[in-house]
Amino acid sequence: MDVRGYISDHADTFFDALEAWLSIPSISADPARHDDVRQSADWLVGKLREHGWPVAEVWETGDAADPGLPAVFACWPAEDPAAPVALVYGHHDVQPVEPLDEWDSPPFDPARRDGLLLARGASDDKGQVLFHPLGLSANLAASGAAAPPVTIKLLIEGEEESGSPHFAGLLRRERDRLSCDVVVVSDTTMWAADVPSLCVGMRGIAEAEVQLTGPERDLHSGSFGGAVPNPLHVLASLLAGLHDEAGRVTLPGFYDKVLPVTDAERELIARLPFDEADWLAQAGHSGAAAGESGYSTLERVWTRPTAEINGMWGGHTGPGGKTIIPAQAHAKLSFRLVAEQDPEDVIDALRSYIAAATPPGIDATVISHGNGVRPCFSPVAAPAVGAGMRAMSRAFGTETLLTREGGSGPEADLAEILGAPLVFVGVGLASDRMHAPNERVDMALLLKGAEAAAYLWDELAAIGGELTARR
Ligand code: BES
Ligand code: MN
Ligand code: MN
Repeated sequence: MDVRGYISDHADTFFDALEAWLSIPSISADPARHDDVRQSADWLVGKLREHGWPVAEVWETGDAADPGLPAVFACWPAEDPAAPVALVYGHHDVQPVEPLDEWDSPPFDPARRDGLLLARGASDDKGQVLFHPLGLSANLAASGAAAPPVTIKLLIEGEEESGSPHFAGLLRRERDRLSCDVVVVSDTTMWAADVPSLCVGMRGIAEAEVQLTGPERDLHSGSFGGAVPNPLHVLASLLAGLHDEAGRVTLPGFYDKVLPVTDAERELIARLPFDEADWLAQAGHSGAAAGESGYSTLERVWTRPTAEINGMWGGHTGPGGKTIIPAQAHAKLSFRLVAEQDPEDVIDALRSYIAAATPPGIDATVISHGNGVRPCFSPVAAPAVGAGMRAMSRAFGTETLLTREGGSGPEADLAEILGAPLVFVGVGLASDRMHAPNERVDMALLLKGAEAAAYLWDELAAIGGELTARR
């Protein structure tokens, strides 16, 4: 039985299992759902054992003082103890589902429609995690062997959508059991359903909240308006000041560790069949592309850092009018980072800017949320990346291009702490509505993902010496 035949024979069982997993609301950001995150980890361990993985276990994260949510670890060793070791990374937690009334069907009651599977986590990331056990079973069925051609480890996190607060600690604690020659990440998108691609970089992220306090209570805007500072006005002005007219971020030192886009990168990006109208349609039918001047849309999303306001509130937002000067103003901000930018430096720069630009009469506090994550990159010329491209090309029957992602994850820690190159094998699409209502995944692409994963193990085995030479 060949890989493709095995996968199509097992497609129904695969999607039934995925639906069962997607029914578990493993929202890491919601303390009320933490039992579900645990149940989701248990579910995956059970499924891996069913598939014959000799090692599959739940790994707790954090410690007694600061407990985290569980990850899943699994391992299926190759026959040959000297064979290369690949570690697959993904996550089993999902994003919150609000606004609920915008879902066509309940987020944790998976529905199938026109070749799409709709549910929270379908694409990000349960669907992309679950194609791995199917892919490995297909690889074994095709080879007739009892063990894979390379040792395969799996590390599936339960806190990715909450900024991976305990992940680096887990990697350090378990460095020995996690040792590997290559890290395979399945948590990204490809260029288009008919254009396979490999991601070679993700942006980092830093998050913060700004709180401004003025008078100790809301004031009558007739009695006091125009004569004391208004926290919401100050907030509006501080946030407006984050960008200059060219769309550049004004924080001191913000661009110090940003490297210029190289000609080689510009060339890779220019090779992609980019259509702005299509892209805008995927961007929720945004009315226009806009951003830092001097850069194309893809350069802006993949190679340039940003400052974004994610939410701002304060004062009266209920029905009717209310003539007050509000006592407080709040905003949640996030920064996407590139190249060598460090989340901590960016939060420090935000603190200095807010402290310096806040006028007398207003108290400003900047609270940072989590540690952020650093940008990450694949070494494009690494043999393992070539193996990933060949695996994708075999599955899709056509040339594989290189892309990046504007999104973020803990991949820089994986690469650095485990000392292994990153290879991204992902089959999500920009149109999957990740993090939004009606998240979906293209079912045919998940099967292609399983196929690419099945081929990847043979491709990595074929260049085994080059991978293990780095040990
Ligand atoms: N899988 C995504 C990263 C991603 C985003 C890949 C867009 C492809 C396209 C990941 O689950 C994610 O959403 N990361 C968060 C990280 C944050 C919560 C710290 C992100 O990018 O916002
Ligand atoms: Mn994800
Ligand atoms: Mn996500």
